[in-house]
Amino acid sequence: MKYKYTIDAIQDIAVDAVVVFVPVLEKTSDSVLEKIDHLSGGAFSSLVKAGDFNGNESETVVICKPAGFQAGRLILVGLGDKKKIVADSFRRVIGTISREKAVKNSKKIALCFKGYEKPSFYQAAVEGYFLGSYKMLDFKTGEAQKNNAKVEEITFIISHKKGLGQLEKAVKKGEVIAEGQLLVRQLGYTPANILTPEKYAQKAMELARKYRINCRVLDEKNIAREKMGALIAVGKGSKEKPRFIVLSYKGRTDSQNPVVLVGKGITFDAGGISLKPALNMHEMKNDMAGSAVVLATIITAARLKFPRNLVALMPLAENLPSSTATKPGDIITTRKGLTVEVINTDAEGRLILADALDYAGTFKPQAVIDIATLTGAALYVLGYEGAPILGNNKRLLDQIKSAAENTAEKVWELPIWDGHREMMKSNLADLVNSAGKTAGTIAASAFLENFTGNWPWAHIDIAYMDMEPKGRPYLPAGVTGYGLRLLTSLLENWKKP
Ligand code: BES
Ligand code: MN
Ligand code: ZN
Repeated sequence: MKYKYTIDAIQDIAVDAVVVFVPVLEKTSDSVLEKIDHLSGGAFSSLVKAGDFNGNESETVVICKPAGFQAGRLILVGLGDKKKIVADSFRRVIGTISREKAVKNSKKIALCFKGYEKPSFYQAAVEGYFLGSYKMLDFKTGEAQKNNAKVEEITFIISHKKGLGQLEKAVKKGEVIAEGQLLVRQLGYTPANILTPEKYAQKAMELARKYRINCRVLDEKNIAREKMGALIAVGKGSKEKPRFIVLSYKGRTDSQNPVVLVGKGITFDAGGISLKPALNMHEMKNDMAGSAVVLATIITAARLKFPRNLVALMPLAENLPSSTATKPGDIITTRKGLTVEVINTDAEGRLILADALDYAGTFKPQAVIDIATLTGAALYVLGYEGAPILGNNKRLLDQIKSAAENTAEKVWELPIWDGHREMMKSNLADLVNSAGKTAGTIAASAFLENFTGNWPWAHIDIAYMDMEPKGRPYLPAGVTGYGLRLLTSLLENWKKP
């Protein structure tokens, strides 16, 4: 995408479409709107008087060949209540109009940002454009490929060129972050027959090379040597063998302890012998969403040159039933040495995370954050509105909450109490991997906690946040890429917890 910045008068900008943001109209006079009204011979005030437009969020009016304008179209888009305008308002509004035909048919668009000159608004605007207009086309052939948006150039109309450098930086950042989130979506949409653990590892290698990140892939032999008994137990029902990916990015010259990210990478979760019902099982190709988020986050951090040392760990496996699969009742030994009675083979995410969290300790981390499509129960806690977070360190959890505020990827903290820890004890082994339906999200976290060390740890459960059922302004129905903006913002503003 090409970006331009202009202080030219709005009527003199010769693009295919000029977009003007309009807050809910009070009596206040707005110089841009007055000018539009004047130039268009009262078209704007007539629209308002007729009740056809009043500035409610995402309300859109397209005027073709507007009188007095160089542009081919004038697009008026509501911004909602003036007092409630935040960065996410721009993400939403631009996400919505990115799918409007008037925008899709335009090569050059201009966005009138006069009066809204905050860098975070620009960043959000660019994110909204890419996130809203994205469509996965990798598996379409022929004509459908052309279904793509045509916008090649975005011009920002601004009041003055003071502080332009900051705006340009924000725009670039928005693009890099959106690309990160779209990578998460692309990986999530790629089905399990194509994105096997082995192929996924190759893809990670390629990306790591491209962005100059260090990448090591442990194959099944290395995994066995590491004694990752839980990862092996989950993967052994499939002929596609597990992989364990270690990415590291050095954003500092000193040897500062890294922040370690861990992402669940189940490339398909059939449930194993504790087989899932057929309905919606195909969606379990996205059970690697957490791993895609950590992969895309370390890439994004590298592209934005965050001054931080980072490690991303991706345990990858396919959870299938077969004669070689782990069976309910089997007892396995984790890398840490703790034994686990596998009550339910569908509670596989916590098993692979157990070995990965334990392995994270070998990096002497200043903190570890794991992200995973871990429990269906998360849907009953927060619905599709946000992700439960849990952990052992208030300062770390508070930082994640601020990152959520900054990015509009919402989170809410749940507790882990001793009673929950008791639930996960086994009569026969050290732990069970499932204690049934009660407090499912917390129980899974109480299990994970056993594999953490003497370092700050937080867990983010993104089950269901990884998929949007209906479609929202910048989240078309389908894979969302939730978590990328959250973790990127967390690392950008990082303070040692
Ligand atoms: N990957 C699923 C969780 C999930 C469910 C994510 C729906 C997204 C949408 C996970 O591996 C799982 O199956 N969890 C079980 C745990 C239970 C057996 C203790 C669950 O939540 O039902
Ligand atoms: Mn499962
Ligand atoms: Zn799973």
